Amino acid sequence: MLKAVRVRAFVEADRAAVLALWEACGLTRPWNPPEGDLDRALAGPSSTILVAEDSANVVGSVMVGDDGHRGWVYYLSAQPERRHAGIGRTLMTAAEDWLRARGVRKLELMARDTNTAVLGFYEQLGYVREPVAVCSRWLTATDPKAGYQPEVKHD
Ligand SMILES: CC(C)(COP(=O)(O)OP(=O)(O)OC[C@H]1O[C@@H](n2cnc3c(N)ncnc32)[C@H](O)[C@@H]1OP(=O)(O)O)[C@@H](O)C(=O)NCCC(=O)NCCS
Repeated sequence: MLKAVRVRAFVEADRAAVLALWEACGLTRPWNPPEGDLDRALAGPSSTILVAEDSANVVGSVMVGDDGHRGWVYYLSAQPERRHAGIGRTLMTAAEDWLRARGVRKLELMARDTNTAVLGFYEQLGYVREPVAVCSRWLTATDPKAGYQPEVKHD
């Protein structure tokens, strides 16, 4: 039987559960300290973390932000043992509502090219693959990925 979940804003008491969830969902990378990402998303009004909880536990989360033009989501995650029960869809709907309330007209997201499984999920929700290339450049003094083996997928 599917347990009902509700979506609410992150509170500090969720920190350990959310970080563990991101780890369990394979979303963390060593050059991207997740705790720093979480703190930055919570630091200002243009981004936030939403969590899905059942009666007692955090079972999903999503980071959502407004960059002044488009809306973006990161770290979308549903507890591995609770997949295909609507948690991902519920969180994406909440992220869309959060952005719509701010006047954002389009949501964009990136999926790692190794994460082909997730593309079917987004397609199911009405997302389309765009004919764009994503370019990036670190703004740090040194490359945070330096020292990692080339066979480690970079993103
Ligand atoms: C992506 C993720 C959040 C989806 O969560 P979920 O709770 O299992 O998804 P839902 O149950 O809400 O699925 C919504 C719809 O997508 C479909 N769907 C879910 N996963 C799918 C997949 N891998 N391929 C195709 N369709 C999929 C479901 O069947 C459902 O369709 P329906 O509503 O018609 O039944 C979850 O798989 C996850 O945490 N993955 C690991 C982390 C990740 O890759 N995050 C995204 C980074 S870009």
